[in-house]
Amino acid sequence: MSNLESALQKLQTQMTISTEEVLEIAHKFRAELAAGLAGKPSSLKMLPSFVTTPTGKETGEFLALDFGGTNVRVLLAELFAEGRFTVKASIAKPLNDPNGRYDYIYSKASGTQLFDFIAEQIAEIAKPGIKYPLGHTFSFPSQQKSINNAELIHWTKEIDTTGVEGQNVNQLLGEALLRRGVPNVMPEAIINDTVGTLLTAAYINQNTDLGSICGTGHNTAYLEPNAPWNHGPMIINTESGNFDKLDITKYDEQVDKASEQPGAQRLEKMSSGRYVGELIRIIALDLLQHGLLPNCSTTATQALSVPAALSGADVSLLIKDSTDDLTNISTWLEERLHITYSTKSDRLALKQIALLVAERSARLVAATFIGIINHIDENLDRNHNIAIDGTLYEKMPGYAANIEKTMTEVFGAKAGQITTVLSKDGSGIGAAIAVAITSSK
Ligand code: BGC
Repeated sequence: MSNLESALQKLQTQMTISTEEVLEIAHKFRAELAAGLAGKPSSLKMLPSFVTTPTGKETGEFLALDFGGTNVRVLLAELFAEGRFTVKASIAKPLNDPNGRYDYIYSKASGTQLFDFIAEQIAEIAKPGIKYPLGHTFSFPSQQKSINNAELIHWTKEIDTTGVEGQNVNQLLGEALLRRGVPNVMPEAIINDTVGTLLTAAYINQNTDLGSICGTGHNTAYLEPNAPWNHGPMIINTESGNFDKLDITKYDEQVDKASEQPGAQRLEKMSSGRYVGELIRIIALDLLQHGLLPNCSTTATQALSVPAALSGADVSLLIKDSTDDLTNISTWLEERLHITYSTKSDRLALKQIALLVAERSARLVAATFIGIINHIDENLDRNHNIAIDGTLYEKMPGYAANIEKTMTEVFGAKAGQITTVLSKDGSGIGAAIAVAITSSK
């Protein structure tokens, strides 16, 4: 066995999560969930949403704002009941211009600038003279005091805009709308994207009780049957990305140390699109620096030394290449990282690293789903539909299958009671559904 092969084998041992370990993680997750609900110390924030699942009868026209981190989207949606809806108009803009003209999500940008930019996008869609109730999907941990009052606890996904943490986000939005001269748009609900994903799928399928995002960030919300805030059903945003009862590798440690918020979002840093590319970069660089990817040139060391050089899309590309000589990876190395020379074993190593990182991510996420299902339905007496959105789940080859496989390993024949579905763009429509639920009360 070559040195590279034995290094990859060691990595495989570190990154593989056995069925027993999945069960152990699920068990710890469930314990953290119960502690958080009881107001005891927990890595799960367990944030109330002040909304429950829709009846499916909600109708009307609503504006929805989807503020996820990378882009901001505004939708004009019409709900027709029984799961039917249409998007009548939409606009999407990056919050950080790829051509470098503006950046509203770094430390030198202010909350005022950020929300003025968002109000500008809303004004593109809202016609003067018409009143629009607006639902806002704000995909960050926020302390919710009512359906329309959420204070940002702290940014995640490496966003650093000043003057927003600790603030009532829809108030900032409302003020920006007034400054922009669109008083006819009224923010009436604010929800997390996991809540939006759950709501959209539940509008169609009443068995939906979990909503999750496996995209740039990671998090899950679920329908708690007995929430402490209303002693009845309420959707809770667990902020599961912050779960930290996990065995970590030296690579996870490195990613965490170099991040904006060391110590926070440990599960997210092991599983989400914002970090999986980074993990692969760090692992590959480590192998390179130990002389284990000997055929790669110094250009490779330079290319792989750039933080955030690899994105979630790059990881998908590495996994997807099934050509005999891994020629797609070779082209990608040239075009993306300017590495003009690589051997098949270098490329195979990159693909293997990507597969290990992606599989670990899917199994960790599945373990948290199992923890939640065990909490709400210990003997698995009911059917559960898990709505998932995000690029990892939608686009990464094998990701969705790995989640399902992990559930089957744990639940056996009863795994058939649990369905997982892609709820594409559910977070945006979910904001419209949240306003519809609120206004029908
Ligand atoms: C945020 C969550 C969000 C998730 C998915 C995480 O970074 O903390 O609030 O739901 O990303 O967008």
